This record gives sequence, structure tokens and C-alpha cells, in this order.
Amino acid sequence: MRTQARSLAEAFGVRFIERRNLSVNRLHELDDEVLVVTDSGLRAYSAKADAPFFFHPSMALLRIKRILGGDTDVMVRACGLRTGDTFLDCTLGLGSDSIVASFVTGDTGRVVGLESEQILAAVVADGLKRYESPLVEAVQAMRRIEVVSIHHLTFLRQCENNSFDIVYFDPMFFQAIAASDSIAPLRPFANYEPLTAEAVEEAKRVARRRVVMKNHRDSVDFNRLGFVRLPKAERAFTYGIIEVGGEAQ
Ligand SMILES: C[S@@+](CC[C@H](N)C(=O)[O-])C[C@H]1O[C@@H](n2cnc3c(N)ncnc32)[C@H](O)[C@@H]1O
Repeated sequence: MRTQARSLAEAFGVRFIERRNLSVNRLHELDDEVLVVTDSGLRAYSAKADAPFFFHPSMALLRIKRILGGDTDVMVRACGLRTGDTFLDCTLGLGSDSIVASFVTGDTGRVVGLESEQILAAVVADGLKRYESPLVEAVQAMRRIEVVSIHHLTFLRQCENNSFDIVYFDPMFFQAIAASDSIAPLRPFANYEPLTAEAVEEAKRVARRRVVMKNHRDSVDFNRLGFVRLPKAERAFTYGIIEVGGEAQ
């Protein structure tokens, strides 16, 4: 744990201290954001939040169980994802969508998850490596995901044309969704920048088949960025699609 903590501190250019029995409040006297290395994973504390952020697969396990039981997953359908696909998740967050995508694309596919916020990327990358569950397929899916801590525009600019089947965006919503949502603990650390037309243009160049965006069903971003919104939105959010490969399903 000490070795991991020291190397994270070095990578982030921050101080490493032994926590001993310091309370979270005492830790916040040192900094508003504190990353704690524990033997069960990383925990990120923000002075702006009551609860720490730690990795949990959230709805991903349930979604995988449903797919195994024969149900369709709306994101998987919106993306037209299939075994062997390459999936670029430009907004990794908790990694739930990437886990489901990795389960579907399988060991012949590839999932790369981009997260601009270093703390979030570190917590999620660590969790994806160590989380255990009796659902073996989900664990294998987690282990296959490649996490890169980078702004998606920087990454997309470096990608070759048509280098991923699907490029996916799930930016932070501007309309607040219920406070109890699964990404609530991530909020104090997240990047709230609106998705830019420039990133979408790059995504269109990088995607072989589709660029997909999840957003609030009333978001003006679908029109602003040229996505065709899925007509049916049972929930607060829906998906928008840009077909780039002329392979509509
Ligand atoms: C709504 S969350 C994504 C949730 C994710 N789809 C899941 O299933 O857990 C959006 C995430 O994207 C990150 N993000 C926002 N803008 C980004 C950018 N330009 N590059 C990389 N990550 C970004 C945020 O920090 C946040 O963690």
C-alpha cells in the first residue's frame, strides 16, 4: 500500500503522508481533495462532499445479468455493439458503461476508457483491476478495460481515422438528475465541460460505425452537435447517434 501511495503521490505531484488515525476532517485541513490508499482500494475525499468516491460497478453487474438473461441493454443497442468491436469511451466516469461494453465486445474486442480527471481515473483504474464478483464474465470485462487519464480531445486528435468501431460520450448532465443517482459521489471530482463540436468532429473521423452520446432527454446538445436522438426516452436520459459508416441497424 505504501509503495502504491508513494507512486501515486509522485505521479500526481502531491505529498504522501501516513494517515495513521487522522480523521477525514483533519486530512481536509491539509487539502480539499485527498486520495486515501487502503487495502480494499482507493478512496477519494472531497471537502465538498460527505461521502468518499470509491470504485463500484454500480448498475453494470445488473445490466450484464440482464443481457445474459436475454434482455437488450439500451446503450448496447444505441451503439450497435457486438462481439469483437472496439469501443472508445470518451467519458469513463465510474466505468459502468465501459464494463457493459467490454462484456459485449468480449476478449476479441477492445475497450479504452478516457477520463480527464486524474483522481477519478486512478480510483476507477485501480477498482477495475481489483474488484471481485461471483459474476466471472463481469470481472473479466473489468480487467480488459484500458484506462487512460487524458482529455478526450487530446486523445482523439492522436487517433488514426476509423480506429474504433464506436466512439461514445456521456458528459455530465447540466440538468441535475435525482441526487441519489449512482454517480453522485463522483460529482465533486468530475469535469463539467460541455461536449464540444470539435470533439464530435474528431470522433466522427475516428469512429468506423457510430458516434453515440448519452444525455438528458431534453438536452439541446443533441441538435447542437448533430446527433439523431433515439425517439423513445423512458428515463430522464436518452441516446443520440451519428452514423458514420453508413451501416444503420
Ligand atoms: C456522466 S460521467 C460518465 C459516467 C459513465 N458513463 C459511467 O457509466 O460510469 C462523465 C465523466 O466524464 C468525465 N469527462 C468529462 N469531460 C471529459 C473530457 N473532456 N475528457 C475525458 N473525460 C471527461 C467526467 O470527469 C466524468 O467522470
